Amino acid sequence: MLEKSSVALLLGAVARRAAHGLPDGETNALRVVHGEADGLAGVAVDSFDGHWLVQTRDQPWPKWLEGTRAEAGWRSLSWKRLDQHDKQSPVPMAGDVPDGVFRVRELGLEYEIDFGAGYSQGLFIDQRVQKARLLERMEPGQRFLNLFAYTCAFSVLAASRGVVTTSVDLSRPFLEWGKRNFGLNGMDAGAHFFCRGDAGEWLPRFAAKGRSWHGIVLDPPTFSRNADGGVWRVERDLPGMVAACLRVLEPGGWLMVSTNHHALTPGQFRSLVTRGSAVAGRPVLTWEAGSLPPDFPGIPYLKVATLTA
Ligand SMILES: C[S@@+](CC[C@H](N)C(=O)[O-])C[C@H]1O[C@@H](n2cnc3c(N)ncnc32)[C@H](O)[C@@H]1O
Repeated sequence: MLEKSSVALLLGAVARRAAHGLPDGETNALRVVHGEADGLAGVAVDSFDGHWLVQTRDQPWPKWLEGTRAEAGWRSLSWKRLDQHDKQSPVPMAGDVPDGVFRVRELGLEYEIDFGAGYSQGLFIDQRVQKARLLERMEPGQRFLNLFAYTCAFSVLAASRGVVTTSVDLSRPFLEWGKRNFGLNGMDAGAHFFCRGDAGEWLPRFAAKGRSWHGIVLDPPTFSRNADGGVWRVERDLPGMVAACLRVLEPGGWLMVSTNHHALTPGQFRSLVTRGSAVAGRPVLTWEAGSLPPDFPGIPYLKVATLTA
């Protein structure tokens, strides 16, 4: 594609986000370019407070980006290739790329970002709609359970509403990162619970102890392997995990279930979740479908629902 038309497409994408109020004083972590949906197939650009992380699939560095600083308003450019056989950390390409960790804001809360962290940069920015809904749902004094918590973004949000949170994740470093996110927002992580280990093993323990929560987020990866070699596969294991969640859900409470497994259709997702509710003997009473934020146009790969049962 001609460089000139790429620049025009980029500026169009930036302008469309601006029309949605992105970025603003509350949120400075957003997707600036979402591939084909913005006319730039194979290119995704996320802005973390102006530090752009450019991800390309099977194509070279889009060098034309380097000339767009003044018009597009970025502070730095880093490049991460998504080639199947070459999983590398982002490479600094232009501008003042942060040396180490830095902060971004999402919905008025602060999070630590690390471009060198490997798996991801510290925040999944495609869940903003669900995060805003969570803020509306939670009431001070309630309890919130965050499964597959990663850096505890959902927990930090719930805690900002005066809720006591429990975060479960296989990775101790990610939970430590989560504790730092509490600290960045002036919250005492010591007043919250962090459980390292397999969510599938923690849930029956919680149920045996009679613990329960008013809100639960179940946002697992498509596939993972725990320390004992045990495998999690969303299409196989989601119903059992939903059932286990419903066993620790307060009457009248809500469960948010989400997957970004591209191969799963919305109908298949719904039947996996419904099967879990049948296993737990708690039929679904209400079902609210979630969505991607406006900076992720095009194919709605995220399947997400919040249910009461
Ligand atoms: C897709 S992310 C979850 C995203 C998170 N909900 C968020 O919004 O930031 C994957 C996380 O699941 C964790 N994980 C993977 N398998 C797990 C398991 N069986 N039990 C608990 N955590 C697991 C990983 O360590 C990683 O932090």
